[in-house]
Amino acid sequence: MEPCTLVLFGASGDLTKRMIMPAIFRLARRGLLPSEFRLIGYARSEMTDDEFRARMQKAVMRDATAGDEAAWTEFAARLSYIPAEYDGDDLQGYAELARRFERLDCGAGARRLFYLATPPALFAPIMKHLGEAKLAGLAYQPDDGGWARFIIEKPFGHDLASARSLNTEIARVFDEDDIYRIDHFLGKEIVQNLFALRFANGIFEPVWNRNYIDHIQITASETLGMEGRGGYYETAGAMRDMVQNHLLQLCALVAIEPPAEWNPRAVRDEKVKALRAVRKINPGEVGRDAVRGQYGEGVIAGERVPAYREEQKVAADSQVETYAALRLHVDNVRWAGVPFYLRSGKRLAKRATEIVVEFKPAPHTPWSARGGPDERARPNLLVVNVSPEEGIVIRVEAKQPGQEMRLQSINLDYCRCDEHGAIESPSAYEHLLLDSLRGDPTFFARADEVEAAWEIVEPIIEKWGAEKPSDFTSYAAGSYGPAAADELLARDGRYWYEATDQQDAKSATRTPDSSRAKSADG
Ligand code: BG6
Repeated sequence: MEPCTLVLFGASGDLTKRMIMPAIFRLARRGLLPSEFRLIGYARSEMTDDEFRARMQKAVMRDATAGDEAAWTEFAARLSYIPAEYDGDDLQGYAELARRFERLDCGAGARRLFYLATPPALFAPIMKHLGEAKLAGLAYQPDDGGWARFIIEKPFGHDLASARSLNTEIARVFDEDDIYRIDHFLGKEIVQNLFALRFANGIFEPVWNRNYIDHIQITASETLGMEGRGGYYETAGAMRDMVQNHLLQLCALVAIEPPAEWNPRAVRDEKVKALRAVRKINPGEVGRDAVRGQYGEGVIAGERVPAYREEQKVAADSQVETYAALRLHVDNVRWAGVPFYLRSGKRLAKRATEIVVEFKPAPHTPWSARGGPDERARPNLLVVNVSPEEGIVIRVEAKQPGQEMRLQSINLDYCRCDEHGAIESPSAYEHLLLDSLRGDPTFFARADEVEAAWEIVEPIIEKWGAEKPSDFTSYAAGSYGPAAADELLARDGRYWYEATDQQDAKSATRTPDSSRAKSADG
């Protein structure tokens, strides 16, 4: 691969330590980085190059598969650091960056990847300064196939208006093709697998529509609380943190029409079409189609955990939702009348991100008609497990062994973790970093896509912002979320599937009766 310099803004931050640097190091170890690769960390914290390297080593070595000292030492030689302001009167940092590029850009055709892992308020100023310094953007004209690309972290905007204005500001100085808005869910193997599952199998596409599918559930349930991110979360909430991006991306991939070609434009055009087909919820319907909740104290894995309002940097009377559930409709020929239920919450009973496609039940079972055993078939499910394990389960009905024609549900089960060891299976961040180095934005969000997703959640965010709930501690930590979320489905004669424990079959197999009785501590 061609030589490249990666500039990491936000290099002293949490995301750099937890996700970005470990992913880059793993790419290096797998021999997937250019041989002439340099990384310049950029942040406000005062640090020397060596201190930065030491800090990164500590972060990277927390991963058991990280490897040995020697591999790190070789990699660390590629790292350096600039302590400087991002914005304001003192723009020395950008001048220093220009000097480093002069030293580091190898030969003609400089290739620069800028990773913005800073608070979102800094995205526009950093890009503006880089553009003005001609280090990137339309004014940066490298020859011989050089380029300057940007990876922009989420959240991309705080609402529709701010996302639009950020897109407009970016478009002034940069080409959209150089902008890689990251949504790490799109880097997950199993999420990318949705394309193969849907479009490379003769058996799914014919039934992937309103004639055979009853409804779709998309769940991202977490046991974690704030983990020191209370300050950020107070500005976000579940709707902005998870639904606007990750869950709507999953929704788009389930709903999407087959792209005519496999290229970034064709794939993203189809995603935009799917998102735009989602019916907007009127302010008057928010109470009916959306549920919010906030966790109170409770028990997770046998340990008492505090309420959201007792978390660090969270207001004692915070109105921020830590749980959101939605009922959506995709108004097109394929999906007319098929509800998509989405939900996401913190401090829930289980960690489980999954997509459940419930098919319509078999219309008739011959033996139940004429005095035989009353065995009604349960609907078939297709479950895509996104986390904690990645896999695909198809639930089908089968005969119980024995004399009688009795039914039982069995799982046809594929788990990626059974087949691939940790090192061979790239993390979402590795996938996406490599894509951006190679210039492939297929699995990144385009400007219009991000705006289409904001348009869906905007009426709900507005309504929730305007109407304060009277009592907001609506679910106990360690529970399955607010009762109102169950009612959202119960009104339609349905119920949420809960992922079973990992040691059980990896499918969603809860019955309505058992659901509320369960809790994280057993
Ligand atoms: C992040 C959110 O984007 O995704 C976090 O900001 C959330 O709040 C995380 O915990 C979930 O990602 P994953 O890959 O752990 O399911």
